[in-house]
Amino acid sequence: ADPHALVVAIDGPSGSGKSSTSRGVAARLGLRYLDTGAMYRAMTWWMLRAGIDVHDAGAVAHRVDEARIESGTDPLGPTITVDGVDVAEAIRGEDVTGSVSPVSAVPEVRARLLQLQRDIIADGVRHGGIVVEGRDIGSVVVPDAPVKVYLTADANARALRRAAEEGGSDVTATEASLLARDKIDSGRAVSPLVMAEGAVHIDTTPYSLVEVVDQVVALVEAVEAPA
Ligand code: DC
Repeated sequence: ADPHALVVAIDGPSGSGKSSTSRGVAARLGLRYLDTGAMYRAMTWWMLRAGIDVHDAGAVAHRVDEARIESGTDPLGPTITVDGVDVAEAIRGEDVTGSVSPVSAVPEVRARLLQLQRDIIADGVRHGGIVVEGRDIGSVVVPDAPVKVYLTADANARALRRAAEEGGSDVTATEASLLARDKIDSGRAVSPLVMAEGAVHIDTTPYSLVEVVDQVVALVEAVEAPA
């Protein structure tokens, strides 16, 4: 594969280890990093702040062009701003987490963010390559990515990790919230969460973070090695 078109697509449900794995792989290989989930969260944060009913798809669609979302792609310090405001922490709050799935299901939201994502990815490719994480990266955003990974983990393992990340939230409630989001993300009409054609499935349940990063790095090195 052309090393100047290196895109590593990492998809999977919430809490499967996508973010830690993606950042680890990008840092190890000197690639850029894009968290598309953060962009959906940023759009949701803007909609909530604008007082829009997130369950009214028409209202969401109508305002989609107004939010100015910017993502920084350093894997050691990714950033996300909306209209110039740093929202890195705010987008992890319960209000955003509880509203992001319906916002992500609106086709106009996906079309707008897809455009932004493709611009950032093209820029990453020009700078040597990029690791992109989300739900539809290998299936829709970059279907010709040379490396595609689909990460999963047992629901309980995912809830334990996510609750720890959130500073000790209740594990049972976190698991219920993850499963509810999975259901909406997998069931929506536009770009549902699916394992992309050509993706390598890694169930991360039995592995440490370093072990999963090692496995993905090996996949990247395999496509970069001359045939
Ligand atoms: O990865 P995350 O939990 O931060 O993602 C938040 C939400 O964004 C998730 O519930 C589904 C949505 N999402 C999406 O629809 N498509 C993507 N490529 C990434 C995230």
